[in-house]
Amino acid sequence: MLSIRPRRLRKSAQIREMVAETRLSRDMFLYPFFLVPGKKIKNPIESLKGQFHFSPDKLLEEMEECLGLGLNKFLLFGSGEPKFEDARSAYYPYSVVLEAIKAIRAKFGKEVLIMTDVCTCSYTTHGHCGIIQNGDVDNDLTLEVLEKMALAHARAGADFVAPSDMMDGRVGAIRKALDQEGFNQVGIMAYSIKFASAYYGPFREAAGSAPEFGDRKTYQMDYRNGKEAMKEAVLDEEEGADILMVKPAMAYLDIIKELSLSTHLPIAAYNVSGEFAMVKAAAAAGLVDEEKMVMENMYALSRAGANIIISYHAKEILENKWLRT
Ligand code: PBG
Ligand code: ZN
Repeated sequence: MLSIRPRRLRKSAQIREMVAETRLSRDMFLYPFFLVPGKKIKNPIESLKGQFHFSPDKLLEEMEECLGLGLNKFLLFGSGEPKFEDARSAYYPYSVVLEAIKAIRAKFGKEVLIMTDVCTCSYTTHGHCGIIQNGDVDNDLTLEVLEKMALAHARAGADFVAPSDMMDGRVGAIRKALDQEGFNQVGIMAYSIKFASAYYGPFREAAGSAPEFGDRKTYQMDYRNGKEAMKEAVLDEEEGADILMVKPAMAYLDIIKELSLSTHLPIAAYNVSGEFAMVKAAAAAGLVDEEKMVMENMYALSRAGANIIISYHAKEILENKWLRT
């Protein structure tokens, strides 16, 4: 006779709800937006089904809808700006990102949490996440650009800046630059553990940021390395990061888990474009149940230890009431 029967706790939906170890809430979601200069623009992004390029005016309309669903935290990416060898358009005093931040603040005040991507790849002619010297991205020259870009975003009113470049020392450099100008309340969500990944493909089309030569392996991490991942996280924490990010998410649950056991900072998981596109393609082909697969993925991230989930699925999850609890 069996006395221990795990199935007793799975007997009914009521019991399963009661004993569930992982809870998801709309407060955990951060929703990405792609901005383009102009007016009245809402163009579908081919590579990311259901996502759009927005001009700032149209973005406000979209945000209003999101707010109605309880989605109030956003990550902004600029694209379609003039590109230069030295990425100077990344920190011009006028850019679509700055225009959008100001418009959002004017309309929604502090109701909306604004995070901005800080990286040069959408602003360089060559599409790399930094300034090129002798055929490779020069770390310390790039830091200067990142500082200026982060400052521009902070002055416009961003709550957090999110450097995604993977240069050494950029969290410390940005923290110092922000503090010197009195922005000690502007946070840094660091893309701490960002792997050189095939999962970024659809995003590069959306952001117009594919590298024209070579790859990103001299700055983004080798996906075979887990210890090095923890080293990156420790450095960012020491340099003053407020939130640590792991990216991509689904193929790196082990990294999220390990990080969650060693850091005291909140962890963000970026459920990236390729992960999103795979689910969409499989669902469109009738191979999987989209709702079930999306929610399984979201709970997996939370169970692994993610406190914040950055996902292109965020709006549809709330719109379709896939989040029932
Ligand atoms: C660029 C950047 C990338 C993503 C966010 N910022 C792509 C890359 O590094 O090539 C990926 C996001 C996604 O795939 O959804 N610094
Ligand atoms: Zn980049």
